[in-house]
Amino acid sequence: MSETSRIGIFGPGKVGTAIARLAVAAGHRVEIAGSHRQQSLQLLLDVLAPGAMQTHSAETLAARSDLTILAVPFNRSLDLPYSSFSGRIIIDALNYWPAIDGVVAELDGISQGTSEVVAARNPAARWVKSLNHLGYHDMDEHARPSSDPTRRAIAVASDDSDAKRFVSAFIDSVGFDPVDAGSLADGIHLQTGTEIFGRELSRAQFERMLVRPGSAAEPAQRADAAA
Ligand SMILES: NC(=O)c1ccc[n+]([C@@H]2O[C@H](COP(=O)([O-])OP(=O)(O)OC[C@H]3O[C@@H](n4cnc5c(N)ncnc54)[C@H](OP(=O)(O)O)[C@@H]3O)[C@@H](O)[C@H]2O)c1
Repeated sequence: MSETSRIGIFGPGKVGTAIARLAVAAGHRVEIAGSHRQQSLQLLLDVLAPGAMQTHSAETLAARSDLTILAVPFNRSLDLPYSSFSGRIIIDALNYWPAIDGVVAELDGISQGTSEVVAARNPAARWVKSLNHLGYHDMDEHARPSSDPTRRAIAVASDDSDAKRFVSAFIDSVGFDPVDAGSLADGIHLQTGTEIFGRELSRAQFERMLVRPGSAAEPAQRADAAA
């Protein structure tokens, strides 16, 4: 990735604006698309993510962006313009929270990870699961330069090795150590209810906890997981 990349974000909520703040601070150009209810977002962005720009053309946001990040509630994610994602690098930062999202019929009874379900909405996009497992407040508080030994890690899971490299460089640029979390299917180990989800981990701690591709191990489930 170049030092200045074009980052498109769907969802100007808690995590979308946190990622926007980090990306603007790292020197990237950020455009954000809101919901149909958010036609006048710019004032909010000027306060929450100064430097980020509202887009009024969500249909072409992914085509204009080097990297596009999905940061809307899972139960609203079917509304996104998936056909415009073909050939583009798309980060699925979504989590499915039944208590918040309600029952999403598409996920009923599936054994796949949610990212595989989202990716099936446009298999021609270059899907990466990342940025979903750390809280927005942790993103704000824990971004650090690469030289800092207390730096936290963020996982990157994808079947597309170039997309994975690009997203890893983005994660590094915004202040976190990227960790290779395997394929998109392996992204299941980053979901709500797993041992990794919501934890602040260094790269070394993270790598020890990850179930590597090809491993026979089951995803580590946290006994007290709510989701
Ligand atoms: N919060 C976290 O710390 C965190 C961390 C990592 C990942 N995530 C995941 O990221 C997603 C968003 O979480 P959040 O906490 O940021 O939610 P949030 O604060 O509720 O924000 C979601 C935003 O998305 C907007 N939106 C809804 N439909 C849209 C559409 N079709 N196009 C563009 N924008 C749309 C919403 O607008 P309206 O208000 O008009 O509906 C709202 O501004 C969830 O899947 C969540 O699990 C959250």
